[in-house]
Amino acid sequence: MRLEKQSPCKVNLLLNILGKRTDGFHELETVMQPVPIYDLITFETCANGIHLTSSDARLPTDSKNLIYRAAEIFFAAAEITSGIRIRLEKKIPLAAGLGGGSGNAATTLLALNELFRFPLLKSELEKLAASIGSDIPFFLQPFPALATGRGENIQPLEPFAALSGCYIFIVHPGFGISTPWAYQQLANFPHALNGQPGRAQKLISLLQQNSAVEAAKGFYNSLEAPALPKYPLLTLFQEFFRENGAIATLMSGSGSSTFAIVKNGQEAVILQEKFNEKFGLTCWMATVPLNEQA
Ligand code: C5P
Repeated sequence: MRLEKQSPCKVNLLLNILGKRTDGFHELETVMQPVPIYDLITFETCANGIHLTSSDARLPTDSKNLIYRAAEIFFAAAEITSGIRIRLEKKIPLAAGLGGGSGNAATTLLALNELFRFPLLKSELEKLAASIGSDIPFFLQPFPALATGRGENIQPLEPFAALSGCYIFIVHPGFGISTPWAYQQLANFPHALNGQPGRAQKLISLLQQNSAVEAAKGFYNSLEAPALPKYPLLTLFQEFFRENGAIATLMSGSGSSTFAIVKNGQEAVILQEKFNEKFGLTCWMATVPLNEQA
């Protein structure tokens, strides 16, 4: 049996870190927005083993890959002994703060559960997802969400009214930022390490009203404190977006992807053209509508 799935990505409209925990992770509150840019993953059952291939030669295809790990723990939890062939067509950039790898792992859990006739409950999939990465449970569901804890506690939300009709323009500069590095560096930025809780609820209230301009005032990312001084190009991107009519701009997750939100598709096209003129065509770029259904 064969199944083909689209594996989406996300941006963080807010990533507020509240402090370091005793388990080494950081307590946080984050507002996550799904973004309709997809990797494509094909699954085909076989007699035994996990056989992963990828369009991107930089990615490992063994248990270092989150897809492989997801398949491994799925088979163990569901006590299934047959095998799977998985082909990944990568479109989302790596180490980008867009959750591409986390999305791939969640898509794998959902696809295998479907292919093998739903042996695991949603709550079991959520546990497996959280055991392999903090961002993975978010991708088990399709909605924007508030995530708390280390990012694994998900509260799905209605599509945000304030972003209705808006477009997002995402730029990846060609270099990645290591997530563990970004979190470790917070020790040098006590203000960013120990954020005040409550920003997420405030932003969600704004996003549930009608003004993207008002909501933009609540966008915030604690990890910009270590990332922007080290990678000044990201600040230049943000300045450029602000000067050219973006409603909001922010680094997503631990970076390096930087996004701008604009009012409509026409403004997105203009912004992308201006960006090309200024920075050249060497960056990975994508422009997509947000929240079409709202
Ligand atoms: O959970 P995940 O494997 O995606 O996290 C990658 C790394 O990011 C962790 O090893 C940790 O260094 C850091 N992290 C953190 N606090 C979080 C999430 C991630 O310190 N809440």
